[in-house]
Amino acid sequence: MSKTYKCAVLGVGGRGSGWVSKLHKHKECEIVAVNDISENRLKSLKEKYKVNTYTDYTELLEKESLDFCVIASPHYMHAPMTVVAAENDVNVFSEKPMAINLQQCDEMIIACRKNDVKLAIGFQHHYSPTLAYLKDAIAGAEGELGSLGRITDIIMTGRHYRSEMYYLMSSQVDPKTGVSSGQWRGRWQTEGAGILINQAVHNIDAFQYVCGDIRSVQAYAKTISWEHKFIEVEDTVVACCELENGGFGNMIMTSSNKKADKNSITVHGTNGYMRAAGGFCANFIEMDTRYKNEEDYEVPFYTDPKWNQLDNFLIAISEDKEPFVHGEEGRKSIELIRAILKSAQIGGKVQLPLVDNVAFPTLNNVNRRAPPEF
Ligand SMILES: NC(=O)c1ccc[n+]([C@@H]2O[C@H](COP(=O)([O-])OP(=O)(O)OC[C@H]3O[C@@H](n4cnc5c(N)ncnc54)[C@H](O)[C@@H]3O)[C@@H](O)[C@H]2O)c1
Repeated sequence: MSKTYKCAVLGVGGRGSGWVSKLHKHKECEIVAVNDISENRLKSLKEKYKVNTYTDYTELLEKESLDFCVIASPHYMHAPMTVVAAENDVNVFSEKPMAINLQQCDEMIIACRKNDVKLAIGFQHHYSPTLAYLKDAIAGAEGELGSLGRITDIIMTGRHYRSEMYYLMSSQVDPKTGVSSGQWRGRWQTEGAGILINQAVHNIDAFQYVCGDIRSVQAYAKTISWEHKFIEVEDTVVACCELENGGFGNMIMTSSNKKADKNSITVHGTNGYMRAAGGFCANFIEMDTRYKNEEDYEVPFYTDPKWNQLDNFLIAISEDKEPFVHGEEGRKSIELIRAILKSAQIGGKVQLPLVDNVAFPTLNNVNRRAPPEF
């Protein structure tokens, strides 16, 4: 007989309310409670799903008997919510990005290990067979007939337009204090960065997954679009990496183009090249010159990876396994983001592994003001 997992969602805005609906429909899950600082959001979900509602996530985690929680709050809240969940023996599925800096990532990993609960990070595109196919092709690049040969470069673009309204709509008021923290998006303290940590974090996760280890990074970051004139964080980034496999990696990420070429990862080797495109670079292989002529390329597969991450997480809980995107894997994209920001701010090369020695990013805009101290 299959188990029923009792669960709750913390933060029920755009993404979190989507999770409530998904969990409600899932045959092995029973959503029992939701948390948000917005009373209005709680009221409508209580009426629709008959769930218990809490404005205080600590109270929810202490009172409810849960198998897991989904965290879909603003980025800076992922770590404190994870720690309290772990201390109450609740397995954690945290939305991407894992957190806003490496200190927070480490707090999450340590709390979950110490309390023996699972920690999964919401990178749904990581489950795409397209990326696994690309990773295998890069890993086995040299030696075989039809191989790519020695990898020279891997180029990734992540373009996700965001309007002024997108940033203005993310306001929140804490009902306990009545204090508005303003827009959580577009601010170092609450979002952690801009395009890098919110939208392109999926591309960065895909990039680090297929490329393998990265030795060093050199980057530029700016806020370019006039639509983004009031945000603190970057909207356009170019980063160049030296890869452990010997080649180079190049990334362009921006939220400034109303119309743009699609997202892609292109891998060039001495014998041929491959290109994955669509969505967050994870939907289909557009070209694979290893076994075919260039003109013959076709889409080999497409699956919707969205559900696989939840099923993988439930299996991890029931069979006591690590989730596919566990804490250490989720941490890698934050390490790369922090290295990119540091490089842009100091104007030089940054080696990995990174010593991320600042508790929170400062409030300086990387383009218009003095660089934050690392
Ligand atoms: N995996 C994906 O593709 C994907 C897509 C969209 C969003 N997300 C992630 O989901 C998270 C939420 O994003 P969103 O777009 O839904 O934002 P949102 O602003 O629509 O929702 C955030 C919610 O959290 C609530 N909140 C704020 N502080 C809180 C607190 N202290 N306690 C409880 N609730 C609090 C807000 O009131 C709001 O309802 C982010 O981490 C985002 O990156 C992931």
